[in-house]
Amino acid sequence: MILNDALKEETRMQKKPYAITTPIYYVNAAPHLGTAYTTIAADSVARYQRMNGCEVAFVTGMDEHGQKVADTAQEHGMTPQEWCDSMEPAFRDAWALLDITYTDFVRTTEPRQAKTVQSFWQLLHDKGWLYKGTYEGWYCVHEETYYAESELEKDEDGNFICPDCKRPVQVMASGEENWFFKLSEFQQPLLDFYETHPDFIRPITRKNEIVSFVKGGLKDLSISRSTFDWGIPLPFDEGHVAYVWADALLAYCTGCGYGDDIDPDAFDEFWPPQYHFVGKDIIRFHCVIWPAMLMAAGWPIAHTVFGHGFLLTKGEKMSKSKGNALKPADLISIFGVDAYRYYFMSDVQFGHDGSISMERMVQVYNNELANTWGNLVSRVTNMTKKYFDGIVPEPSEAASVNPLREISDELYAKYDSAMEIVDFTGAIKEVQALAARANRYIEETEPFKLAKDASRAQDLADIMYNLLEAIRIIAIFMAPFAPNTSNEVFSRFGLGTTYDIEDIQQASVWGQLKPGSSIEVGDPLFPRLDVDNLPEME
Ligand code: MSP
Repeated sequence: MILNDALKEETRMQKKPYAITTPIYYVNAAPHLGTAYTTIAADSVARYQRMNGCEVAFVTGMDEHGQKVADTAQEHGMTPQEWCDSMEPAFRDAWALLDITYTDFVRTTEPRQAKTVQSFWQLLHDKGWLYKGTYEGWYCVHEETYYAESELEKDEDGNFICPDCKRPVQVMASGEENWFFKLSEFQQPLLDFYETHPDFIRPITRKNEIVSFVKGGLKDLSISRSTFDWGIPLPFDEGHVAYVWADALLAYCTGCGYGDDIDPDAFDEFWPPQYHFVGKDIIRFHCVIWPAMLMAAGWPIAHTVFGHGFLLTKGEKMSKSKGNALKPADLISIFGVDAYRYYFMSDVQFGHDGSISMERMVQVYNNELANTWGNLVSRVTNMTKKYFDGIVPEPSEAASVNPLREISDELYAKYDSAMEIVDFTGAIKEVQALAARANRYIEETEPFKLAKDASRAQDLADIMYNLLEAIRIIAIFMAPFAPNTSNEVFSRFGLGTTYDIEDIQQASVWGQLKPGSSIEVGDPLFPRLDVDNLPEME
């Protein structure tokens, strides 16, 4: 045990810590394509950074407190805790199905989260950032958000409705005593912070939105509720439970090791995260309230909050409540998990809204996966079997000058700079360019003709070596997005798994495939799909 810990510590010391988070999802319904989208994006980064030699803390979890969850539980005839417990498998199973490699799954009802929340708010209380007052105003239970009257919209009958979900809003009982956080005092510090940390809010459109919101002035934030008890009690006033956002945001700290008795250094090591990945709907919480809370505590703030866009089906935001939410499992049963991950990461530019459809998904699958990547692997492994008995041929020295290597030599730099800014579409495009070029190389060099001419045996060996090496390199760079396929290619090439790679730059240097090693031919990686007979994505 002690030896293991020492070893773990030693390995970790050599690696760069890297933390990334997804939102801590509400448990009022099971994961859908939207929540899966954020989670796959974070997983692709986590996998890539591990291949870059980082020790990754990848935090996700379930946001279980608050009125919305309590109401949902009641509708199902369960206690809130029973309801939350019943939802855990839905989340864990969905993430397992999508091969999500989170390192922590925080449930906000866990005792360790209560510890984080209570010590945090105690600290802010002690530092004088809290006061007791009364809140009069509007609240949307569905959004778990307070709104000023000026922000509300009206329905046809003239009743106030939520500007986000358009549901009726509640008047918060005037006279109810709440604890307030002095958010208003952070207007200038936040504006200064945005100025001095230009990468804090991305993409830039979201930054502009947040800056103008903050310039408009900030009100103090009610961080406690006393009219219901489904939440974490504030340690300095037990009749009050923490407002759901005053609880859930701190799950990021819990997941990065705050208060971990077994590994007390983890938090200092991993905090602050490189990225909080969130949908654009919750950037105010992450870009205004959250940094102000951390400033008040004197804790470091994440490097970047990335607010991605919405997935749209037929022009509408897909959501649990609109009923147009497909389950990831439905699509995985048709396309497989790697194609699922690949489609969302390549075809929806991270940061923008993106329309998704079954037709488009089939098109991307057939063009980019079946015809380009899968077909390349089939053709080349089959030719290797046929012409070289499945053994990697020895290339001549001249072979190392070739068009595939030219692309490959620049691939890491291009891919890495795209991944750094989480431009997944851009990173994938660079890898696909090599796959497409390799297919063209086959057409140009015509190995099937050379194989008939004994005097061209070395040319054939050179070409096949170059193609096999290109495949090895493509599999490395595809791994963050389509990990199972890359591992399958690695196993057919007798190369272990992509999980072993801790220095992707070095591993992807041209020429490391060993002549003399065996190559297996297997089933097509992506069997072509028939466009007819597929269900609608709605
Ligand atoms: N519990 C809060 C988050 C607390 S974080 C400290 C919450 N949960 S949620 O379950 O509603 O998840 C919201 C997130 O789901 C969005 O920010 C986004 O990441 C994702 N998406 C939900 N619908 C989506 C789409 N249609 N498209 C893309 N992502 C969407 O808010």
